[in-house]
Amino acid sequence: EKQRIVVFGSIVQDLVSYTDRFPRPGESVRGNVFKSGSGGKGANQAVAAARLGANVALIGMVGEDMFGDTNIKDLTQNGVDTSCVGKTNKTHTATATITVNKEAENSIVVTLGANLELSPEVADANSSTISNSKMVMCQGEIDEKGNRRAFEIARKHGVTTFLNPAPGDAKMDKTILELVDVICTNENEAEFITGIPQNNVDDAKKAARAMVEMGPQHAIITLGAKGVLLASKGKDDIEHMSVDKVEAIDTTGAGDCFCGTLAAHLVAGHSMTSSIRSAANIAALSVTRHGTQSSYWKLDEIREKYPKFLP
Ligand code: RIB
Ligand code: NA
Repeated sequence: EKQRIVVFGSIVQDLVSYTDRFPRPGESVRGNVFKSGSGGKGANQAVAAARLGANVALIGMVGEDMFGDTNIKDLTQNGVDTSCVGKTNKTHTATATITVNKEAENSIVVTLGANLELSPEVADANSSTISNSKMVMCQGEIDEKGNRRAFEIARKHGVTTFLNPAPGDAKMDKTILELVDVICTNENEAEFITGIPQNNVDDAKKAARAMVEMGPQHAIITLGAKGVLLASKGKDDIEHMSVDKVEAIDTTGAGDCFCGTLAAHLVAGHSMTSSIRSAANIAALSVTRHGTQSSYWKLDEIREKYPKFLP
């Protein structure tokens, strides 16, 4: 039996319009292409890990509606165990209204709906799934009390905890870092957590170091095209790993692809450094395709076209 990753996190219906540029307030612009797809940071990370061959379960919530059904179907088709995904009739499946411009940047309005019911009680109800896993992953797209409880259960049972506090929230309760083994942020989230203004790679190095002081064994900061930083407890030097350049068309969900891929490699027993290097390049591949989950490369495709990207 392969060791399992359990994601305690969000499921979101993505509604994506591709335009030349973002509209200004009060303005309508024309979209060139529309795509609807299954998303949400939790589900995306689960799918990214599963596509890399990991054994993955997702604990999540959807509404009793069409979007909930298609999201569960997509997760299942990607090999994610959805037996711990609950349905609520109190609210809708979460939606994200996403605009992607010609520069492949995005602007997102996410309405969390059913994800906000992913409470500490749901974590308790699924405690055996958490305690029987190798790693639990949480993000910032649900109520933070749920994340805290999932990590408390994990810690009690020696399960590795992985936090991706995205999307950043300046008001986040930072004491959760005491329960975290691996934290992975972008520059924005690193600034919210540490208070260190992020303008360049040196600032990011300081933030990575500061995050390790707050609890985690490893702090990872993704810098987009500038690569990735890793700070680890007990190590003075901060590693800076570069990433091959790609032709970006949609960067949405690239951070999730990075986290899910990294988790899959770590659980498979690869070293932190080689796992990060690989995850950065595999996440970069995802920005060459439209969408979030739909853009993630599968292990077979990577083996065939970019074997050098595997750890
Ligand atoms: O990280 C990308 C995800 O965040 C999208 O799939 C969308 O659902 C947003 O919430
Ligand atoms: Na993409």
